[in-house]
Amino acid sequence: MPGLGHCKLCELEDFGDPELRELIRDVYASDREHFGEPDFPRGREYRKYWEVAMTLRSFGAYGALRDDAEVLGVGAGHEATIYWLTQKVNRVVATDLYRTEDEWSELDSGAEMLTDPGRYWDGPWNPDRLEVLHMSALELEFEDESFDAVFSSSSIEHFGEFAEIRRAVEDIYRVLRPGGVAGLSTEFRLEGPGIGWPGLLRFDEPELRALLLDGLWWDPATPLDTTISERALSAPVLMQDALADIEAGVRGWSQYPHIVLRDGDYVWTSVHLALVKSRQTAAEWRRRTPELPPKPTPAWRKRLGAARARLLRR
Ligand SMILES: C[S@@+](CC[C@H](N)C(=O)[O-])C[C@H]1O[C@@H](n2cnc3c(N)ncnc32)[C@H](O)[C@@H]1O
Repeated sequence: MPGLGHCKLCELEDFGDPELRELIRDVYASDREHFGEPDFPRGREYRKYWEVAMTLRSFGAYGALRDDAEVLGVGAGHEATIYWLTQKVNRVVATDLYRTEDEWSELDSGAEMLTDPGRYWDGPWNPDRLEVLHMSALELEFEDESFDAVFSSSSIEHFGEFAEIRRAVEDIYRVLRPGGVAGLSTEFRLEGPGIGWPGLLRFDEPELRALLLDGLWWDPATPLDTTISERALSAPVLMQDALADIEAGVRGWSQYPHIVLRDGDYVWTSVHLALVKSRQTAAEWRRRTPELPPKPTPAWRKRLGAARARLLRR
């Protein structure tokens, strides 16, 4: 397939894609300045940059970067996506369990986001276009079909058991307008004995398909590609080292590329899917169902029977 797909695993080579590279440089301009490296993000390949840029790239490709667009973030914390989008669309609604004191509060979803979102961002953004709400992903308090795009990065895997995550996915689907795009990034299990633990799941392809695609009228923008290069796999970051970096509180990581992680038997990376919702709705199918299929008239059935008999005699 020409160009970079929209539904794939995080790959080292992706950081060299001109469009993705420019998006990363733009969104993370303050990291670029901080590190002072002219080729940024080369040498700083980090899967969070990739997730955010993949989401924004798919929003651009599927018509959501418009002045009148309404965009929803689910489990959004204070990720870069929120702030960058305030300069491109009419309204960004960031939702998360901001008021809940939990393991995420300190690093990702502190209550201050509700009152002072600017404290988490040192790049340009438009405060007039941002609304921050405390809201569970399992119960999105919005009308059906009220957003042109929805994003959720590194979050759905933390929403609980598989069934709870599926509930959140169905709610994301519900609030998305026909023709809208959802940019979802989550954990993809490359090795490991099972799906993980409630609150920390890592999906393989069948699990991901069951979670995101079964029975929902949205389609992967490009075919899901779950291949990964030996190069990306060759130097996984150990989870304990990543945690030590976070505890040390330094900006950036002590090891790059920061793409594939290993913790015991588990090896994983990020997967991104851009899902485009059909303009036809399931409600329309249900409305028509009583009329379908039309019952053949007895005369028509007789003609069909005769034609079939003639065919069999040949
Ligand atoms: C790893 S953080 C990612 C935050 C943000 N998306 C980012 O990329 O920086 C996971 C987020 O999921 C949120 N979360 C967990 N369960 C949730 C739920 N039921 N509803 C909404 N958000 C939830 C946490 O509060 C946390 O902010």
